[in-house]
Amino acid sequence: MAVKMRLIFSIIFIIQYYNVECSKLRLDPLVESNAGLIRGLQASDGDYSMFLGIPFAKVNESNPFGISTPQEKFDDVYEAYDDSLMLCPQYQSSNIKVGNVNCLFLNVYVPNSAHSQNLLPVMIFIHGGTFTSGSGRKSEYGPKYLVDKNIILITINYRLGPYGFMCLDTPEVPGNQGLKDQVLALRWVKDNIGAFGGDVNKITLFGRSAGGISIDLHLLSEHDNLFNRVIMQSGTSLASRVLQTPDKPDKTAPLKIAEYLDFKTDSVSDALNFLAQTDTHLVITTARTLNMVFKPCVETVFNDVEPFITKPWTDAEFTKIKGMPILIGFNNKERSSEYARKDEKYFEGLNVIHDKLNESFNLDNDDLANMKNIIQHFYFGDEKISIDLIDEIGDFDSDYTYIHPIQRSIKKYIESSPENIYYYMFSYSGGRNFYRARYNVTGEGAFHTDEIGYLFDVSFLPEDNVNDLILLEQMTTMWANFVKYGDPTPATTDLLPVKWTPLTKDKWHYMNIHSQLSMESRPLNSRMAFWDLFYKLNEDASRLCEK
Ligand SMILES: *[C@@H]1O[C@H](CO)[C@@H](O)[C@H](O)[C@H]1NC(C)=O
Ligand SMILES: *[C@@H]1O[C@H](CO)[C@@H](O)[C@H](O)[C@H]1NC(C)=O
Ligand SMILES: *[C@@H]1O[C@H](CO)[C@@H](O)[C@H](O)[C@H]1NC(C)=O
Repeated sequence: MAVKMRLIFSIIFIIQYYNVECSKLRLDPLVESNAGLIRGLQASDGDYSMFLGIPFAKVNESNPFGISTPQEKFDDVYEAYDDSLMLCPQYQSSNIKVGNVNCLFLNVYVPNSAHSQNLLPVMIFIHGGTFTSGSGRKSEYGPKYLVDKNIILITINYRLGPYGFMCLDTPEVPGNQGLKDQVLALRWVKDNIGAFGGDVNKITLFGRSAGGISIDLHLLSEHDNLFNRVIMQSGTSLASRVLQTPDKPDKTAPLKIAEYLDFKTDSVSDALNFLAQTDTHLVITTARTLNMVFKPCVETVFNDVEPFITKPWTDAEFTKIKGMPILIGFNNKERSSEYARKDEKYFEGLNVIHDKLNESFNLDNDDLANMKNIIQHFYFGDEKISIDLIDEIGDFDSDYTYIHPIQRSIKKYIESSPENIYYYMFSYSGGRNFYRARYNVTGEGAFHTDEIGYLFDVSFLPEDNVNDLILLEQMTTMWANFVKYGDPTPATTDLLPVKWTPLTKDKWHYMNIHSQLSMESRPLNSRMAFWDLFYKLNEDASRLCEK
C-alpha cells in the first residue's frame, strides 16, 4: 500500500509540475542540423521541445505512386511549428477529403536535458492502420509520457493505400513505396538526430500493427542498418491479416481505378498519368469501392531502383537481428474488437473459420472442410456459431491473425541469435484502453490498439484513474528502459517489482502486463500448441507470401 501511495503522489506531482511549466517564459529552440536550420517550439505539457512537421522526403508530383526522394537542405530557417499537413491521403468517409499526397513529414520531441554533452537514446515510432490509414501527428500519438523518461521520440509518416503500396512490377512503381518512405525517414534521423542531442548509436524502431509489420520487414530488407533495437507490438511480417491473401499484387490496379473514373485505356502508364492529376480523394474512394488491397510485396529488381524486399520473406533469414535486443508482444483479445459491436444477426451467416483458412491455405474442398471442422471443434466444441460464442470467435481470430504469427516470427528470430527477446502479453483493461474507450466497449482483456493509451497521450483518453496512471508509468518506464539499456527492467524498483526475463529457445518467458505485472511462460499455451501442429501438418499448403 505504501508503495502505491508514493506512486500516486509522484504522479500527481508530475501533473502539477507540468502546469507550473506552462506559465514560464518560452524560449523556442533552434537546431543546426545537416538538413538545415530548424526552429521548434517549447512544449506546454512537459519539459521538452517539439519540432512538428519536418519534411524529410518529397513525393514526385508527376508520379505520386512512385518512389519519393530525400528532402533538399533548407535555405532558410525551417519553422517546425505545425504538423497539420502530416496526413497522407486516406479514407474516412465518402464526403470528407482527408490528407494531401505531400505528406512525408516527421515530428521530433526532445527532452530539455538533451544536448551535445548528454546525448539521449532515440525512439522512432511507425504508426499502424493496415497500410491504409493513420499518421504520426501529435494529436494521434502525443509524446509527453515517453519524453518524460528522457528519451527522444520521433514519429514518422509514410504513404498509404494506392499511393504507398501499388506494386506494378515496373521501375516507375516497383512496390513498397510506403516502406521506402520509411527508409528515407530513418536515414533522415541517422543524419540529423545528433544535432538535436540524440545518440545515433542508440536508435530503437518502435511500431504497432502495420508499424510492427513494417519493422519486421525492415529487419529483412536490403537497406543499410539504420537502427539498433526494435519493439514490435501486435504485428510481424507473418500477420495473416495483411499478408495472406491468395491474390497476387494487381498490376492492373491503375487501369481499373482510371476506368471507374471514366478514363479507359490499356496503358498502365497513361492510367498513372491520369491518376497523378486526379483528386486524391477520388482515387482513394475508388480503390475502396473496388475493394482493392494494397500491401507490401516482393519486388522485381530494376537497374537504378533501390529495392526494399526482393525475396519471399517467409523463409528469409534475419541476418540483421544478430546481437540485437527485441521487445515483442500482443494484446490478449486482439481481434475481439471485430465482433464486440456486432448484433446477433451478424453471427448467423458467419463462416469465419472457412473464410480465413481459404485465405491462407491452398486446400482442396474436402481438406478445407475437414480442417475447418477440426478447428471448429477445438474452439467451439459442438456449439453452433452464434453470438453466444463471441469470446471463442474472437480467440480464434486473434490466434489466427496475430498471436500465432507473432510466435512463428519469434521462432525465426531465435534462429538468428538476437541478443535477447523480451516477450509480453498485454491483458489490462482500464479507462485508457484505446479501442474500448473510443467505442465504449466494456469487459475484460485488451483489444487490438488498446495498449496505445498506456504509451501515448491521446486526447480523448481520461487521465483520472490512478490504476491506469500506474500502468502507464510502468509501461513507459519499461519501454524507455529498453530503449536506453536494451532491457526493460535492468533493476527491480518499487514501480517495476518484477524482473522481465528474456525468452529462450526452451523457456518462453513472457511478461503478463496486467494490473499486476507477472512473469509467466508460454502464453495461451494450448491454443498456440494447436496451431503449431496445424501449421506443421499443412506447411505445404500454406499460401504465405506467394509472389
Ligand atoms: C517523376 O516521375 C516521372 C514520371 O514517371 C519521371 O519521368 C521522373 O523521372 C520522376 N522524377 C524523379 C525525380 O524521380
Ligand atoms: C476460396 O477462395 C477463392 C478465391 O480466393 C475462391 O475462388 C474459392 O471459391 C474459395 N473456395 C471456397 C471453397 O470457398
Ligand atoms: C457506455 O456503455 C455503458 C454500458 O455498457 C453505458 O452505461 C454508458 O452510458 C455508455 N457511455 C456512452 C458515452 O455511450
